[in-house]
Amino acid sequence: MPDTVTTPDPVQPATVAIDGPAGSGKSSVSKQVARMLGYGFLDTGAAYRALAWHVLARGDDTADADAVTGALDTFDYAISLDPDDHWVRVGDTFVTAEIREPRVTAAVSGVARVSRAREHVTALFRALVAASGVPGVVVEGRDITTVVFPDAPVRILLTAAPEVRAARRSAELTGEDAAAVAEALHRRDASDAQVVDFLTAAPGVVVVDSTDLDFDRTVDAVIDVVRTATGEN
Ligand code: DC
Repeated sequence: MPDTVTTPDPVQPATVAIDGPAGSGKSSVSKQVARMLGYGFLDTGAAYRALAWHVLARGDDTADADAVTGALDTFDYAISLDPDDHWVRVGDTFVTAEIREPRVTAAVSGVARVSRAREHVTALFRALVAASGVPGVVVEGRDITTVVFPDAPVRILLTAAPEVRAARRSAELTGEDAAAVAEALHRRDASDAQVVDFLTAAPGVVVVDSTDLDFDRTVDAVIDVVRTATGEN
């Protein structure tokens, strides 16, 4: 009988999955939680934005599902998981700031609607976390608790009342008309919600409502959920 050689599974990072709509504080809260836990931070919306940027750079329209699918083959995507050193790259081009431009924000929902694109970036997210080399990663997006990491030990839906989300978003985008910001946010939420239900918690997902919490208290509330779920105090 030959000896059986068993290779231990590489240790998988602990995943903290956080979903929620724009303006819930998801991105800044997730980043701070990652810092406090010594974890990596993965902003999954950045991949959808970077893919939208890539489709536009090819001269295509993100409303054209075939064009979006056709762009996947040449979508060479990289992102930093370091919460203190954020960058996003497509091919040789750093697009960290460009993917936040209004023209990309306006185009990104089209990309997020294409199921082949969703499958493609979901595979990227799992690979990025598996190769992260850190003890854990806070992953934030819209379908992280349900599709990307449904088995994560910690799954959170971060919500806030719509008017509070709109007010936070317009405070971030100084110089833009508050009513126009609120309208754009609601339009994008409505469009995104047709693809992924990020306003209702799936079974087992803990809701953290930040409507009446300031930033620090929201971070504390999320850390409490992580500690309770992982048995740390
Ligand atoms: O969070 P954000 O605004 O950067 O997200 C950009 C777009 O990507 C937004 O239209 C929703 C979509 N998205 C998604 O469908 N699934 C994710 N996991 C993350 C973002």
